[in-house]
Amino acid sequence: MISLNLGGTKNNIGQKYHLTHSEGVEVDTPHEDFGDKPLYSTMSLTKSKQRVADHGEVFTPEWMVEAMLDLVKGETERIDSRFLEPACGSGNFLVKVLQRKLAAVEVKYGKSEFEKQQYTLLGLMCIYGIELLADNIAECRANLLEIFAGYLNIEESDDLYKAGFYVLSVNLVHGDALTMRTADDKAITFAEWGYLGKGKFQRRDFLLGDLTGSSSYSAEDSLFANMGKHEIFKPFKTYPTVTAKELAAAEMGASK
Ligand SMILES: C[S@@+](CC[C@H](N)C(=O)[O-])C[C@H]1O[C@@H](n2cnc3c(N)ncnc32)[C@H](O)[C@@H]1O
Repeated sequence: MISLNLGGTKNNIGQKYHLTHSEGVEVDTPHEDFGDKPLYSTMSLTKSKQRVADHGEVFTPEWMVEAMLDLVKGETERIDSRFLEPACGSGNFLVKVLQRKLAAVEVKYGKSEFEKQQYTLLGLMCIYGIELLADNIAECRANLLEIFAGYLNIEESDDLYKAGFYVLSVNLVHGDALTMRTADDKAITFAEWGYLGKGKFQRRDFLLGDLTGSSSYSAEDSLFANMGKHEIFKPFKTYPTVTAKELAAAEMGASK
């Protein structure tokens, strides 16, 4: 058995995401050492030998995630820095990034309920993932939603909860990061969310394929080296500004 802490949560997230996989999944529990740190400690880092062989599915232990994030500590503590995990599993990295962003929200906006809510949503909006396996991406969304909802102390019926749910369904993609195609064979796109203040958010959508061209575009000998990023990266869709309440309505529309 794996312990994902999903079923029976306050917000019943496991049910919302139809998570039923955790029952009967075999888990390997080796005990190896990695320097003075236990590589496999209280949590299981693999689900089955088959999945390791088929998909390289070995999860990163918490202490290693923290150490790696410390390498870009400043960015992890910035509410609007954007993180993409192209093989996100159940979100071991993304969960920690969100927690660090929320710590920053608490320091900066903890005293104003409205600002705290908007900036928590913005922090969530800046987290992106791609994952090949359906159960992993569902767990990843659920894990992030649980932290988001727990921090704001909101229930499923709350508009902010629904807005968070919607954002996660857009930002966390079930697909293949190598082919850049979704599980239903569409080009992977990402939404760039921005906060304009007064509860209003702006969304612009970009193709992942265009975004990943960025390093070759900026190479010194590239034809595009002298162009500004805004000239190369053009959104293929720009949305009217929205509030959390409107995003919640979009989620209700999408789940009908
Ligand atoms: C080594 S695990 C790492 C998971 C997570 N990043 C972590 O550190 O705990 C690799 C993950 O990538 C997923 N994966 C494998 N090939 C992929 C691909 N082409 N596109 C997206 N995800 C992929 C696997 O299903 C697995 O969940």
